[in-house]
Amino acid sequence: MKIVAHRGNKRYCPENTMASFCSAVAYPIDGIEFDLQFTKDNIPVVIHDEKIDRTTNGRGYVRSFTLHELRQFDAGVWFHKRFIGEKIPTFEEVLIWSKGQNITLHVELKPQKQKVMERFLDVCLAMIEKHNKVESVIISTFSQAYLAYIKSKNPKIKTALLAKTPPFNAIKYASKIGVDAIHIRHTYQASHYYRRWMSKGLVVRAYNVHRHKDALKCNRLNIDSIITNDPKKMTEAFQKEEKTS
Ligand code: G3P
Ligand code: CA
Repeated sequence: MKIVAHRGNKRYCPENTMASFCSAVAYPIDGIEFDLQFTKDNIPVVIHDEKIDRTTNGRGYVRSFTLHELRQFDAGVWFHKRFIGEKIPTFEEVLIWSKGQNITLHVELKPQKQKVMERFLDVCLAMIEKHNKVESVIISTFSQAYLAYIKSKNPKIKTALLAKTPPFNAIKYASKIGVDAIHIRHTYQASHYYRRWMSKGLVVRAYNVHRHKDALKCNRLNIDSIITNDPKKMTEAFQKEEKTS
């Protein structure tokens, strides 16, 4: 079972910061997940919300700031004072840092205004290619249009459709545009679909897996990965499981 750290070591660190990513890779994980938004001057940055209010000491939309302006805000203090000084990372910063790490990057593309959508996707893709990361990046998004666009620009890049509930057309859609995986919010109901999707060639990863019993269930169902807020708890749980089996 592969373990992916959701927004880094989210339980113990401010999400989507370098501190969170560096903390996550201290555990035997397979990947980190993070979210991309787009600045006013067209730079992809690592932050979940379209506004900076929840995870920085500033206020306003990411898209209304240049990168230089965004970097004036603190992205750590809201979580704990020991993280004072953390900045919103750029995508490029994470790509460069990841060259020293043996991990997969699960890059979630957040929805953008229609007028910048193509530029956002083009810039993100170009950055992945520039840093030779096509093999170690998985692009995920809730937007089917974004996935279709990315796949049409570079068929080699791995893509994953995000879903909160099982989409009724997952298999048909995936084969139509060449989506490689489905990332589904783990629930008891969703778990009934895992085998069916895998039998059709889709890679299945479950997110929102934070409890030991859910992780074990995903493991029994033989899915590829779990995406969790707590890589410490999950990696320890599997190590314990290995020792007792
Ligand atoms: O990896 C799945 C998950 O990140 C999707 O939801 O809201 O946490 O970005 P969200
Ligand atoms: Ca995400």
